[in-house]
Amino acid sequence: MQFRKFGKTDFMVSALGFGTMRLPTVGGDIANIDEQEALKMIRYAIDNGLNYVDTAYPYHKENCETLVGKALKGSYRQKTAIATKLPVWLIESQSDMNNKFEEQLKKLQTDYVDFYLLHSLNKESWEKMVRLDYLSWAEKMVTQGKIRFLGFSFHDEFPVFKSIVDYYDKWTFAQIQYNYLDINYQAGLRGLKYANGKELAVVIMEPLRGGELANIPESVQKIFEKAGNKKTPVDYALKWVWNQPEVSVVLSGMSTFEQVQDNIEYASTSSINVLKQEELKAFEEARKKINAIRPVACTGCGYCLPCPNNIKIPDIFDIYNKGYVFDNLDRARTRYGFLEVKADACIKCGECETKCPQKLPIRDMLEKIHKELGNA
Ligand SMILES: NC(=O)c1ccc[n+]([C@@H]2O[C@H](COP(=O)([O-])OP(=O)(O)OC[C@H]3O[C@@H](n4cnc5c(N)ncnc54)[C@H](OP(=O)(O)O)[C@@H]3O)[C@@H](O)[C@H]2O)c1
Repeated sequence: MQFRKFGKTDFMVSALGFGTMRLPTVGGDIANIDEQEALKMIRYAIDNGLNYVDTAYPYHKENCETLVGKALKGSYRQKTAIATKLPVWLIESQSDMNNKFEEQLKKLQTDYVDFYLLHSLNKESWEKMVRLDYLSWAEKMVTQGKIRFLGFSFHDEFPVFKSIVDYYDKWTFAQIQYNYLDINYQAGLRGLKYANGKELAVVIMEPLRGGELANIPESVQKIFEKAGNKKTPVDYALKWVWNQPEVSVVLSGMSTFEQVQDNIEYASTSSINVLKQEELKAFEEARKKINAIRPVACTGCGYCLPCPNNIKIPDIFDIYNKGYVFDNLDRARTRYGFLEVKADACIKCGECETKCPQKLPIRDMLEKIHKELGNA
């Protein structure tokens, strides 16, 4: 495992962090984590040098922190930093902050959290946290030794990111969505450099755009091969992120044991500033190509769920995107046909759109997709 400096702290973080949003599940229900397999995966990663586990209150329908608590029981806790997050959308007072945080400590079976984040900040949720004076509450927790370092995860535009970074000079870290497709998206490259300039550690989420960059079309693979790449698409996409000196830790939401093994291997051969000029150019070309053919910018994070009408929104977007990226709309129609609840079940309530970190026009997209895929 390679280790990198975590901002101004003296913590040396493993290049790979464990994102626990996409653990293996049983029976197709994300609430139902395959406990045995997930414990094996997390502990194997720690046994191989990983020392940063990222979780959050809502993951796996609020069951994830409990699983992480079990995984880190005993000596694993001493070897591993826990990052978890305050679910800002459920918070209306400082007593809500206390209650949620105490519940999280209990689930995680720990007396303290190493890295505590405001979860998925945007302009509105940040303004609410300022109004509720979150920082004075959080500083109290730091003084009491219940939180070691404060940070936030972010899904909004760069100016909002900058204003949050500038608001408080004791942030230790920021977590942003970043991969070779998303350099000008949300905080993006500008955010990465800005936070690093302020000596914040930068934690990267969605480095494979939620798994999309693991399955690139042949035309894109050819662009990489022409530039001399012999790595797998996942290795190469992760290496692109690790290549950048401003990056502290790359979270990967691994969903199988094999992915954990692979990504540990990829992390152990990662380095800063090793990609050649022609390789960096190939990534630019690949970005243009993928963006040109991919109709929906969904990362499959699932924040839009549950839909009151049980529409599996990310699944529908995934089927649709793959139809275009792999130029096979017939297959997309067949896959769509198998779905129990189709996009036309949308009642346009818009609840999903208020929760989507990518701010996608979900209702319109569902209508459009049903028109295209629904008449198989
Ligand atoms: N705070 C926030 O607002 C926020 C938002 C999003 C994410 N996060 C955190 O950041 C973490 C990372 O984001 P992410 O889960 O979207 O990461 P990601 O690395 O972009 O996507 C993870 C997916 O990539 C695929 N994958 C990973 N390793 C692979 C390998 N070796 N071979 C083939 N496929 C591979 C898997 O897809 P399949 O399952 O399809 O195989 C996996 O589920 C999350 O788990 C979560 O902890 C936080």
